[in-house]
Amino acid sequence: MTHRISRTAPALALGLMLFATGGVQATDLEPLAATARDASDQLLELLKKTVTKAAKEKGPVYAIETCNTKALPLTKELSEKLGIDVGRTSHKLRQPKNAPDAWETKVLADFQARVAAGEKVKDMEFYEVVEGDDGQTFRYMKAIPLGGVCYNCHGDKIKPDLKAKLDELYPEDKARGFLPGDLRGAFTVKMKM
Ligand code: HEC
Repeated sequence: MTHRISRTAPALALGLMLFATGGVQATDLEPLAATARDASDQLLELLKKTVTKAAKEKGPVYAIETCNTKALPLTKELSEKLGIDVGRTSHKLRQPKNAPDAWETKVLADFQARVAAGEKVKDMEFYEVVEGDDGQTFRYMKAIPLGGVCYNCHGDKIKPDLKAKLDELYPEDKARGFLPGDLRGAFTVKMKM
């Protein structure tokens, strides 16, 4: 089994959690996971609302510009408001500032393996307590599936005017060629314990 800690495998999760954290119970972590899940959902809604509004008002090229100028500041604002470090990352990046760290790279690889093994992207998540020089941090990631609307800007048939704007803003862009349902990336949350 390639299952890691997920809501669908609580017994396995408990075992792994005890192993991973040296005694912190999985049941202690579920409320933290719920908070992290909620922060991820809030970020999704915020960005979706912003892009949809921009596209409606001035079209998709403007929506890309809006994403470019607003996504990171809005992400930072939400983190400050919630007092939780929430963001987005991916194995195929568009915005270099969203680059995954070592832990996130490992989890993204694990998500890809789970997808390859047939698991659905929706509801896929992983969390654990990580020990660092600055103490314990609860770390959480939730997989992001590619939806129909997302396909316009991340798919394999991006319209020429959108493609030109993306080329201009993201010369290193790797976040193209996705199909609906694909693993696009993940929300990532850090909470000091
Ligand atoms: C109007 C075009 C557009 C649409 C539609 C769109 N995106 Fe994006 N996406 C972007 C741009 C531009 C960025 C880079 C934002 C930045 O610079 O902070 C981005 C960044 C991201 C990132 C951050 C990781 C990275 O590679 O930097 C994720 C995850 C993501 N998009 C997922 C989605 C999903 C899921 C949807 C559909 C719900 C979606 N996008 C719809 C244009 C779009």
